[in-house]
Amino acid sequence: MAVVTGASSGIGEAIARELAAAGMHLVVTARRADRLLALKSSLGVPCAVLAADIADPSTPTALLALALQTHGRADVLVNNAGRVVSGAFDRVDLDELAAMTRVNFDAVVRASYVFARHLKPQGSGAIVNVSSVGAYLSHSSMGVYGALKHALETFTTALRVELRGSGVRVGSIAPGSTDTEIYGALRERAAAAGVQMAPPLDAADIAAAVRFMLERPAHANVARLLLVSAAESA
Ligand SMILES: NC(=O)c1ccc[n+]([C@@H]2O[C@H](COP(=O)([O-])OP(=O)(O)OC[C@H]3O[C@@H](n4cnc5c(N)ncnc54)[C@H](OP(=O)(O)O)[C@@H]3O)[C@@H](O)[C@H]2O)c1
Repeated sequence: MAVVTGASSGIGEAIARELAAAGMHLVVTARRADRLLALKSSLGVPCAVLAADIADPSTPTALLALALQTHGRADVLVNNAGRVVSGAFDRVDLDELAAMTRVNFDAVVRASYVFARHLKPQGSGAIVNVSSVGAYLSHSSMGVYGALKHALETFTTALRVELRGSGVRVGSIAPGSTDTEIYGALRERAAAAGVQMAPPLDAADIAAAVRFMLERPAHANVARLLLVSAAESA
């Protein structure tokens, strides 16, 4: 049974589809209820929907409660929801940067806290955090995004080590450019600046890798996976 955040589009939606194909029961969440309901109706497995802002501190608790209420258990948390706020640092909207911090980092910590407190006594489960190749790069105009993803990698490693031996596996996947709504906005910005971006990955490529991580035997933990397009310039 898996909870997937940011499942209304892109990588999160693809992860939900891939895990459903693997037979996992789901709770999917994001803000756009219509997209989540359409996803639910297209899956052949039991799936509950929570339309909510992941930055709301009460959302992770509500997600765990929904999983236990509808499926009777919770085994996997995929922290995928994220956004990109970019732009010249002396012009960028600081409130938007703070909002990105709440989604891309604070919410992941809070959700991991809520689920770790459930999974550790259960003695099994997994937390997968969707990071970014941006965690390892220094893209101008995307410094805060990259810093948050770097922080997410550091947090993931620390939590993995802390939960070692508990039966709870923790890992991260860092996608390169992937054809989603986030990427579409970046591609438009690059095109306006006369820059041609390399062909990206499909969201399904990332989803297949997440399934690979989760399907390793219990004694093997894919701690960190960097998956980029073969044409990636970074
Ligand atoms: N695409 C890439 O090239 C790329 C590369 C590396 C890493 N990533 C990472 O991959 C993850 C997924 O992004 P994507 O590329 O699939 O982009 P996307 O299609 O824009 O998906 C982002 C998802 O996050 C959800 N979300 C955003 N803000 C939210 C909020 N406040 N509350 C709840 N849900 C929220 C969105 O749902 P709603 O709008 O319905 O709330 C949507 O489902 C992100 O963490 C991103 O940083 C993407």
